Amino acid sequence: MTTVLDVQRFKEEGRRFAMLTAYDYLSAQILDEAGIPILLVGDSLGMVMLGYPTTLPVTLDEMIHHAKAVSRGSRHALLVGDMPFMSYHQSVEQAIASAGRFLQEGGMHAVKVEGGGRVVEITRRLTELGIPVMGHLGLTPQFVHQMGGFKVQGKTDAQAARILADAKELEQAGAFSLVLEGVPSGLAGRVTKALRIPTIGIGAGPQTDGQVLVFHDIMGMTTGKAPKFVKRYASLADDIARAAHQFSDDVRTGTFPGPEHSYSNPTKSEDFAGTPAANGSAPAAETAHEEVKYGAR
Ligand code: KIV
Repeated sequence: MTTVLDVQRFKEEGRRFAMLTAYDYLSAQILDEAGIPILLVGDSLGMVMLGYPTTLPVTLDEMIHHAKAVSRGSRHALLVGDMPFMSYHQSVEQAIASAGRFLQEGGMHAVKVEGGGRVVEITRRLTELGIPVMGHLGLTPQFVHQMGGFKVQGKTDAQAARILADAKELEQAGAFSLVLEGVPSGLAGRVTKALRIPTIGIGAGPQTDGQVLVFHDIMGMTTGKAPKFVKRYASLADDIARAAHQFSDDVRTGTFPGPEHSYSNPTKSEDFAGTPAANGSAPAAETAHEEVKYGAR
């Protein structure tokens, strides 16, 4: 299993690595078996799974629900739970309780928190208590209203200096890695060089140690014009729509279900009489498919 020590080693050995978001059992299983070393149960699930306009409405209970599913599907990856808005904002004690739920109930191995400043102390306390922390700087979506939208951060010298200083403080406080989101490539490169811990970029150019993208973005389940930082590696929205149309047509025309998808009584011949799919032959090798259960893996 990938651990925080492995992630540190990746940086020391100059090995660039991938992180992907995961929100459910089956996709976590596929990504885990594909060898993705870090799976992030991101609060982006609010937008891609639950249909919220931002990540702000996501609750800790919703995050834990998805974290449990991901941990049931994964055996090898380091699992990181994203602390949602207002789950660590009131006090260090609240942060400890929320992070504890991710590890105890959600089966996560680490948590992620957004921002610097007060979050540095939270990072220190969680790390002291054995809860590994991934930091997150730059475009931090939980600050969307303060940033005036989802805008690239760190473009001015003052902003860049703040991000670099926060990054060093988070490292000092014990963070094992740092997400850099929506910052200019040059700044991401500077932060990456200045830190011992690995940086993981999203919309931060090629100079970070790792890269992360949102599952629904890279799989092409989100449609419309992709933001600049997204590369689509599949077109699942098109595939799903095509499959749904085909299924609907097959049901309408009676070509589904055919004998190969149906159970029959070998002593009777009426099972397919009069259906468009009838071809006079009994289903072959039925016993191999006798279990009436969905979700085969
Ligand atoms: O919520 C999320 O998925 C994230 C990543 C995009 C870094 O924070």
